Amino acid sequence: MEVAWLLETLKSENASMNKRDFLKTSAAALGAALLPKGGWAITGQQKIRTAHIGVGGMGMEDLKAIASHPQVVVSALCDVDQKALAKAQELFPNAKTFTDYRKMYASFSEGIDAVVVSTPDHTHAPASLLGMEQNKPVYCQKPLTHHVTEARAMKKMAAEKNLITQMGIQVHSFYDYKLATQMIQGGVIGKVHTVRAWSNKNWGFDGPAPKGNDPVPEHLDWNLWLGTAAERPYKENYYHPANWRKLVDFGCGTLGDMGVHIFDTPYNALALDVPKTIKNNCRKPNGFGYAESNKVTYTFGQTPYTTETLTWIWEDGYKAPRKNKAMRLPNNDQLPDQGALFYGEKGTLLLPHFMQLPKLIVDGKYQEYDIEKYDPENTLGEPIRNYATESPKHYHQFIDACLGKASCSAPFSYASRLTETILLGVIAGRFPNKTLHWDTEKALFEESEANQYLEGVNRSF
Ligand SMILES: NC(=O)c1ccc[n+]([C@@H]2O[C@H](COP(=O)([O-])OP(=O)(O)OC[C@H]3O[C@@H](n4cnc5c(N)ncnc54)[C@H](O)[C@@H]3O)[C@@H](O)[C@H]2O)c1
Repeated sequence: MEVAWLLETLKSENASMNKRDFLKTSAAALGAALLPKGGWAITGQQKIRTAHIGVGGMGMEDLKAIASHPQVVVSALCDVDQKALAKAQELFPNAKTFTDYRKMYASFSEGIDAVVVSTPDHTHAPASLLGMEQNKPVYCQKPLTHHVTEARAMKKMAAEKNLITQMGIQVHSFYDYKLATQMIQGGVIGKVHTVRAWSNKNWGFDGPAPKGNDPVPEHLDWNLWLGTAAERPYKENYYHPANWRKLVDFGCGTLGDMGVHIFDTPYNALALDVPKTIKNNCRKPNGFGYAESNKVTYTFGQTPYTTETLTWIWEDGYKAPRKNKAMRLPNNDQLPDQGALFYGEKGTLLLPHFMQLPKLIVDGKYQEYDIEKYDPENTLGEPIRNYATESPKHYHQFIDACLGKASCSAPFSYASRLTETILLGVIAGRFPNKTLHWDTEKALFEESEANQYLEGVNRSF
């Protein structure tokens, strides 16, 4: 992606220059100027002043979890919905409030040490990149971005500026997921040849794009909500709040919503890079909403924990594999609604989503295992089956990293790879049942018709 173009678009409200003019005149020079060298570090500081972009929905959870760290001061709140903003301000009356994150960065940069981005997916990259450009560490919700080019740009800028970053996959820091990672890497089932992962949730939408428009509620700035996405009329119940995740221009369907969480442990445990081939068996695309059910098959190259190739099958919605005979569990137990199965040379590991111990299956029977063997130094501590106490760990790790006391376990270097994998499956949904070949060096599909979906429109707004 032309990051320089996006950043320039974000800085000049209602910029009149179009993308082509901009690229013709100044891309290379500006690109270099906007990416100054130099890292970022806060050491010896007592408090981290946080800015929160998107404070309704999950943003409110993120706000409370970050603020529960004793060394955090919430200094800025930003939301395009005045109702969401007012609720957050009730909790943090001393924080400055903003509607436009560009204005927040332009006028209050010196009051912010770190940024939390909890907006809909299409705004993750614009809101994060602008903060990163100002050397701010960023905690960004999952999936990291809406487009592959954005994920790569986020990773690049984080690396070039040596920034502390974390993606909002809080279960990454939960006991059972860490234990499963240690078991797989400790060889509990030998080398893994297949992963199956699933969710019975359905963030698809098969209706037509709505006609006409509804009055924009007074408390919502629709232009800012759309941000860099293409302009369109406001319609109630289609977009804001939450329903945007069903729609191709703003979210990533079930794969991007639940897939990121459920992919995370097998992806991390097997030390995977991006896939080589991707096929999505789903209904014909309608250009507006995602399919209600997807079966995505990926192949990956070998890693120290896999056989020569690894096959990965994701199923969601009504295709979630409840009745799949090949996935039958001992004692005729029902598959959990969401989870992952690792198939290895010596057995199978089931990881339910979530807050349950992994289950080891050998020769069709559950087998006891000795946790100490996989966690000899008790680095994982005791399992805590309480979301409210487990969940803040991932957020606190980010703040501790900002204070120089920890490092992040889901930084953008990792999150961008995982997100790219998810997004390639999402793009494959545009070409049902066709195998796409991904060239990671070139960051292009061999099937050139798919490359148009790697980048967004980057509207000036
Ligand atoms: N990690 C998790 O468990 C988890 C759970 C739910 C959602 N999420 C993620 O959190 C993000 C938000 O999801 P949600 O369900 O809360 O959505 P939502 O639509 O309910 O809330 C989004 C909030 O962001 C605000 N917003 C939208 N555009 C904005 C902009 N340009 N600037 C500032 N504020 C803006 C909205 O007004 C709203 O308050 C998504 O990326 C989603 O994937 C993560």
